[in-house]
Amino acid sequence: MSITIENLSYSYVQHSGEKIAALKGVSCSIEVGDFVGIMGPTGCGKTTLLQLLAGLLSPTSGHIYLHGDDINAKGYDRNSLRQTIGVLFQYPEYQLFATTVEKDVAFGLKHSGLCRDEINANVKWALETMGFEFEKIRHQSPLALSGGEKRRVAIAGVLATKPKILMFDEPIAGLDPYGRQSFLHFITQMNQSGTTVIMVSHNIEALCEYTRHLLVLEQGKLIDSGATRDVFGRRKQMASGAFGQTEAQKIVTMLSEGALALSPAIVTYDDLLSALKQELTRGGMG
Ligand SMILES: Nc1ncnc2c1ncn2[C@@H]1O[C@H](COP(=O)(O)OP(=O)(O)OP(=O)(O)O)[C@@H](O)[C@H]1O
Ligand SMILES: [Mg+2]
Repeated sequence: MSITIENLSYSYVQHSGEKIAALKGVSCSIEVGDFVGIMGPTGCGKTTLLQLLAGLLSPTSGHIYLHGDDINAKGYDRNSLRQTIGVLFQYPEYQLFATTVEKDVAFGLKHSGLCRDEINANVKWALETMGFEFEKIRHQSPLALSGGEKRRVAIAGVLATKPKILMFDEPIAGLDPYGRQSFLHFITQMNQSGTTVIMVSHNIEALCEYTRHLLVLEQGKLIDSGATRDVFGRRKQMASGAFGQTEAQKIVTMLSEGALALSPAIVTYDDLLSALKQELTRGGMG
């Protein structure tokens, strides 16, 4: 299933009538099974784009096609859209509300048309996928859980609908390094089992390491897109390049100022390590 975004624009209209153009003529496509990152400075339109993709906002102009069908066309089945796309906004743990974890996770399946047994099976699967023991957690109040556990319950609530496309807005913000690592490992597994993943993040290292393609937004415009490595390779040449460089790229810049010129193609720590090893064996650093 592919998503095609065609000349997509969105403006928020404020009470005063003033319009804020959040997205301006964005066009791109996302292939089935891909792991796509969306990056860009604060206010550039990332969350707005996710909301449009999830069908929570309607474009001011332009189109989003899912499987060739315009999701904003009259008569488009919104219910099937909700079952195809699962979206997790920032700090989803604040959206838990039911009296038990089980009820919270089952909420999104209310209108799925599944029978009770199927709903129970999905809820159990989702909670176990998120590392919980079902019998232990099912009757607990979500409010009595730790922050990290709440977030895992919130993710289970999205997983329970078994969406083919999973979208995350800043999913690793506020997690400790262990939580971050295990979450990224988890979405990689989901992706490897066929789920298309779209992840908005300010975490450049995570985007660089985990995504296969990147969309770069700036002031509502798509300023670059392509294979992750290629996009990072181009960041250095752009006017706004300082934003969106990996730590390894920043170190290369610092070293070049200190008169050690390394390849501009270095993007990751692994690249940097091999380049430094080469320099050492050549005696370049002696
Ligand atoms: N509900 C709203 N009403 C008016 N303007 C809004 C609203 N939501 C967002 N905006 C504006 O639209 C633009 C894009 O916002 P958006 O939230 O999509 O950015 P973002 O890239 O997700 O930022 P961040 O990295 O801070 O989450 C910003 O200028 C923002 O101020
Ligand atoms: Mg945002």
